[in-house]
Amino acid sequence: MTDAVQTPRVANAAFTTRVFSGIQPSGGLTLGNYLGALRRFVDKQEEGIETVYCLVDMHAITVWQDPKELAANTREVAAAYIAAGIDPERHIVFNQSKVAAHAELAWILNCVARIGWLNRMTQFKDKAGKDREKASVGLYAYPVLMAADILVYRATHVPVGEDQKQHLELARDTAQKFNNDFAAPDFFPQPEPLIMGPATRVMSLRDGTKKMSKSDPSDLSRITMRDSSDDIAKKIRKAQTDPEPLPETVDGLEGRAGADNLVGIYAALSGKSKAEVLTEFAGAQFSVFKPALADLAVEKLSPITNEMKRLMDDKAYIDGVLEKGAERARAIADPVVARVRELVGFI
Ligand code: AMP
Ligand code: TRP
Repeated sequence: MTDAVQTPRVANAAFTTRVFSGIQPSGGLTLGNYLGALRRFVDKQEEGIETVYCLVDMHAITVWQDPKELAANTREVAAAYIAAGIDPERHIVFNQSKVAAHAELAWILNCVARIGWLNRMTQFKDKAGKDREKASVGLYAYPVLMAADILVYRATHVPVGEDQKQHLELARDTAQKFNNDFAAPDFFPQPEPLIMGPATRVMSLRDGTKKMSKSDPSDLSRITMRDSSDDIAKKIRKAQTDPEPLPETVDGLEGRAGADNLVGIYAALSGKSKAEVLTEFAGAQFSVFKPALADLAVEKLSPITNEMKRLMDDKAYIDGVLEKGAERARAIADPVVARVRELVGFI
């Protein structure tokens, strides 16, 4: 999805390019998810590389999920992908738990990966918090399941956020150790992270120094793909800024995190650079800029959120997409697991 796709590393020369992406169906996708991930996936679709989009519900349950909400969130995230423009005919869209090969390979890889590797994972430390004894075993083994997700498709490229780089390293180490242990030098590729280009960190509307996130306690900190036009306008109106008018150049945004974030969001939504946005709004007060940004956000997001709602009313359609996606996924994954079973010595 970047240059890396066209020029895979020599280590992967023997492998067909395959892109795999996983997202947790934890609901309430934010503007950050949309601008940082979803929209880029749609842009990249034109490059014609088939991508496997997996809603990782088995990862989601590593922390408690209400069963009804998990089911609804899985359908909602599937609807968001399709509404944003991912074509489920061209790509494979499915939920992880439907394809048993993920769990089967994960167990085998649990016996390949080392405890010492997992002990270094910073996400586990963050998510488990102080009372590590009470974290689920699944939360600890999470990175190995993630390695299995990727390797079961022998995927070569994995678009992820910066925070997932360490997990990708573990997937690479696990692939290599498996290949060595079972004397199958080219069996698994070394999956490459694709870190999505610059200006992809959308910041909190309440604190321009923090990432916009699903888990921030303040609902005013984020715009979500569930928000109505009124919600979007209200959140932008209340967004943290400063009393100065907008500067003429990007340099003038330095030290003004809130202003910088709003200009960045405007730029991303309008497909312009920040410099172009500032040329248009130089000297404008936020009382002028915020309503313009709210109109733009509503104009760009509401067709997607409306389509999402329409799709979610058509549960049979969403479930059909996921079922068909799972069938296509199994067609790739099952033969890989069959070979793994032979290599390991299962009869
Ligand atoms: P998460 O919501 O953490 O599961 O992330 C799903 C994807 O959305 C990741 O690949 C991130 O790169 C992207 N993402 C999440 N939050 C943001 C944000 N505030 N700005 C840009 N991209 C984001
Ligand atoms: N851990 C990833 C995240 O939180 C989600 C994920 C699970 C994933 N399996 C994956 C991402 C495989 C890429 C490839 O964002």
